[in-house]
Amino acid sequence: MTSEADPLTLVLVGPMAAGKTSVGRRVARRLGVPFVDTDKRVVSAHGPIPQIFAEFGESRFRELEREAVAAALAEGGVISLGGGAVTDADTRALLAEHPVVFLTVAPEAVVHRIGGGGRPLLAGDDPVTAWTRIFEERRGWYEEVASVTVDTSRRPMQRIAEEIAAWRRGLE
Ligand code: S3P
Repeated sequence: MTSEADPLTLVLVGPMAAGKTSVGRRVARRLGVPFVDTDKRVVSAHGPIPQIFAEFGESRFRELEREAVAAALAEGGVISLGGGAVTDADTRALLAEHPVVFLTVAPEAVVHRIGGGGRPLLAGDDPVTAWTRIFEERRGWYEEVASVTVDTSRRPMQRIAEEIAAWRRGLE
């Protein structure tokens, strides 16, 4: 399923605030492989995400994100994608040969996680309504790329990470 150069590679997808970064970092630690957050890669190379959206538009962001996903998959490890990465057909194609975990979360849990700025798509007056609409628009794409689905609404991130690491080891 993965190349020999990419031991225990695993991709995390899911909506904003599903816990992709928190869970991903913990899964990587447990598997003893590097952790890559593709949003962070884009920010370090091109600047803050709200600025990229404002200056060049969302489609340019999706291109930069796709490049970051391709580079991360070539390196291997646990790779956490931004919530909208699956909207890009070419990015979805890149995921086809890899184990992909879809992290879901209920709106009630999201309320407590989406404080602060940095997410241009949630910048309006009612971020939870925006989050819910965006999640519903994308749900089919998450399901299309996912090998397995894990809900992060109620259980501690540590437990969720343990479960995902055990699942990944079991694929070898
Ligand atoms: C986005 C999600 C963000 C980030 C950007 C766009 C989206 O990542 O990539 O703001 O379209 O859902 P997180 O899912 O890590 O918040």
